[in-house]
Amino acid sequence: MDTRTEQNLAASMTSDTPDIIPFLPYLLQDFCELGSSPDDMVGLLSEHVAASERNTALDLGCGKGVIAVALARRLGMRVKGIDAIPEFVEEAREAAAREGVAHLCAFEVGDITVEAPLESEYDCAVYGAVGPALGAPMDMLATMRKTLRTGGYLLLDDAYAEEGDPNASYPTRSSWNEMFDKAGFETIASLSSTDTAADYDEEIDRIARRVAELQASHPEHVELFERYLDAQKGEYDELLHEIVGVTWLLKAV
Ligand SMILES: C[S@@+](CC[C@H](N)C(=O)[O-])C[C@H]1O[C@@H](n2cnc3c(N)ncnc32)[C@H](O)[C@@H]1O
Repeated sequence: MDTRTEQNLAASMTSDTPDIIPFLPYLLQDFCELGSSPDDMVGLLSEHVAASERNTALDLGCGKGVIAVALARRLGMRVKGIDAIPEFVEEAREAAAREGVAHLCAFEVGDITVEAPLESEYDCAVYGAVGPALGAPMDMLATMRKTLRTGGYLLLDDAYAEEGDPNASYPTRSSWNEMFDKAGFETIASLSSTDTAADYDEEIDRIARRVAELQASHPEHVELFERYLDAQKGEYDELLHEIVGVTWLLKAV
């Protein structure tokens, strides 16, 4: 993986440095969901897409496989998931086995910047809270579009900023809509995140506990872990006050 891809991987986990990557499995051991809501994704597909049109799915940056396993178990889909972190992929395989859908799921360790362009003709593609891993939004949308057959669906979990905020680090909803159009997608439906401050506080507590443990066992990296924790708090604060987390269902036209 080149330096830029590692930077983007770290950014997808809300960190400004790849130095954190080896510690992510430890820091996130208390979480199965690493970003996206399986209920929202399954709900959008089951409500808006006929069963005959959703047989296969590709989950890029699948993390611990919660979305892929939910699509397999609840909708009977055949799913391929790819993630760069071997420990996450191992957990995804274990989850699929536990849920009785190992025969429907294939999880691979890989770099999605390399693997995504090799994939095509899926009924459904998932890009769940993976942020800049596939580059700027327009590049990401172009790459995701090529993984789909015409008439296939993209489940995208990202965020938008309020219109007219000059300091916004996320596109506004209207600029997302323009990009969807340019990249060959039609918006079918969307769901805004319903996470609350209490949910975030609870998640921060869990991360803070693991940060404290790592600071004790790796005193040479105290500052690295502190920065990681601060970045997570900043992201949750942004989600509460400045941006809106949303999952879109888009159709490739
Ligand atoms: C915030 S997590 C979201 C995981 C999952 N989609 C979910 O919602 O639970 C982002 C994931 O993207 C993965 N990722 C980031 N860049 C990647 C790359 N270049 N290749 C493969 N995986 C990558 C990370 O390893 C991480 O598991």
